[in-house]
Amino acid sequence: MSADEQKKAAGYAAAELAENGTVVGLGTGSTAAWFVRALAERRLDIRCVPTSEATAELARSLGLTVIALEDVDEVDLTVDGADEIGPGLALIKGAGAALLREKLVWEASRRCVVIAEAAKEVQALGAMPLPIEVVAFGHKTTARRIARALEPFGPGAVPRLRVKDGAPVRTDGGNLIYDATCGRIEDPAALGRTLKSLTGVVDHGLFLDLADLALVGRPEGVVRLER
Ligand code: A5P
Repeated sequence: MSADEQKKAAGYAAAELAENGTVVGLGTGSTAAWFVRALAERRLDIRCVPTSEATAELARSLGLTVIALEDVDEVDLTVDGADEIGPGLALIKGAGAALLREKLVWEASRRCVVIAEAAKEVQALGAMPLPIEVVAFGHKTTARRIARALEPFGPGAVPRLRVKDGAPVRTDGGNLIYDATCGRIEDPAALGRTLKSLTGVVDHGLFLDLADLALVGRPEGVVRLER
């Protein structure tokens, strides 16, 4: 299977986990989009909480019932993609700039399932830069403080403002994204705590102890990885 076929297979496998009468969290990104399409095909009686405006638009266009997170006490099942899947289903997310809404929905969910193609599996987190969502006001000051805070975690972890088509990328909430090249992250929990302690940092792309199950599309088929 090609990478996209692996994503599609994982998305369709995850859609089988949804049940009638439940609230389903919809992730963001190309793999989550396969899940949304597969879910819509099942024509279940469900309400869906999207993690981005892009996913909300896709879900509505497919006839799914979209509600806001604040309309429910909890979400039964959330299915979302990831950028890296490490040991213990520790994840890096946020390449799609939706990490804050994703984490809000994940943390409100009874069960979280991550779906991805095999290339997302890593021995240790940190091969890709870590996305960090930052308030726009004073963001360069915040970025300097992030750089200082990252020093104990490895040399040269300079956060870079994410830019697309010549303009800073804005999240759905109007914040900015910095990507910090950390290298191999030995202690993701400590790094996450450090980043969250900084004023101006809204959140980061480390999703730890949140995924209950991974459905990974590999060339030979979809495999289940339990936390
Ligand atoms: C969105 O902010 C991300 O967390 C995505 O879930 C992640 O980038 C996965 O995207 P793909 O499924 O497109 O690889």
